[in-house]
Amino acid sequence: MRVLLTGGAGFIGSHVLECLLDAGHEVRVLDVLLPAAHGPAASPRLPRDVELVRRDVRDADAVAQALSGVEAVVHQAAMVGLGTGIGDLPDYVGVNDLGTAVLLTQMARSGVHRLVLASSMVVYGEGRYSCAEHGDVPAPPRRPEDLEAGRFEPCCPQCARELTPGLVSEEAPVDPRNGYAATKLAQEQLAAVWARETGGVVAALRYHNVYGPRMPRDTPYAGVAAIFRSALERGEAPRVFEDGRQRRDFVEVGDVARANEAALAWTTRASGSGLRAFNIGSGSPRTVGDMAGELARAIGGPAPVVTGAFRLGDVRHVTASSARAVAELGWSARVPFADGVSRFAVAALRGG
Ligand code: UD1
Repeated sequence: MRVLLTGGAGFIGSHVLECLLDAGHEVRVLDVLLPAAHGPAASPRLPRDVELVRRDVRDADAVAQALSGVEAVVHQAAMVGLGTGIGDLPDYVGVNDLGTAVLLTQMARSGVHRLVLASSMVVYGEGRYSCAEHGDVPAPPRRPEDLEAGRFEPCCPQCARELTPGLVSEEAPVDPRNGYAATKLAQEQLAAVWARETGGVVAALRYHNVYGPRMPRDTPYAGVAAIFRSALERGEAPRVFEDGRQRRDFVEVGDVARANEAALAWTTRASGSGLRAFNIGSGSPRTVGDMAGELARAIGGPAPVVTGAFRLGDVRHVTASSARAVAELGWSARVPFADGVSRFAVAALRGG
């Protein structure tokens, strides 16, 4: 298939690119090489025959041109991470939401009906929780005074008992807890509107915590695995926030790339139009402390330090069932945690 891949020079996008090329697709890349992800003097490192349109996804003319002859779009271009605070909002909304709106408008004009969208588990906010007394309950946003007192676990809104975390499914209510998360949800909502109005098909891949080779280095926009890896490279101990027992689903980037290829194939056989969300996780929840410990061991660096520090925008636990992706996309993660982390420990990072 002839595919436009946005963000194809980035961390996840570059792996998606390799995977799509291996599967025999013809791929054009649209990527502006954001300095936050690529470093200040970025130069693209794409396979030789891949055409790169080095323009912003908000640039309607560039997007229209990039769409010529294309049958499907795989949209990875985004500003990611928690950022530095409320001052980042215009950039997140601009790149993620205005960018997606421009892309969708141009797809409608060009008659391109298939979209794979990089979404995120951050749309859920907190993961799924149950109370011994009240069953499944939503975890309210954590209060600064609780976090300051070291009370990290969410409590039942009815009886204040500590909750037990579980696996979230795609049917869970959405409840973004930071600006970035709000923009990822808006991307899904815009894509759903586009699908309804144009008869398009969207696979929204809700990535869990992606790690692996070419992850951007330590910046306010980087994921925790890259931050730990960068610290260890400097000979410093990884600094683990809260008590280190917050749970995530760390999924290796090669598995995420294969999920994109599977989702692209799914868009050709999906019946009807509309958006379908898929969790993309390894299925094997770990704690942030596990990631720090495993990386430190693999690198032979100093043991992690648990600091008790916290960030208000962070959720406590979020891990999900990827059963729908297994059943409908025919995809499942293959890389075991220990193998993925060992590979990541010695892999090249990007930017910096
Ligand atoms: C991450 C990504 C997000 C992506 C999502 C799903 C970032 C910043 N976040 O969200 O873009 O959509 O996965 O793929 O890329 N922590 C530490 N020490 C640190 C930094 C963080 O212990 O130095 C802890 C945090 O408190 C948090 C956990 O690590 O509990 C994960 O943080 P992080 O990777 O930043 O964000 P996620 O919300 O999991």
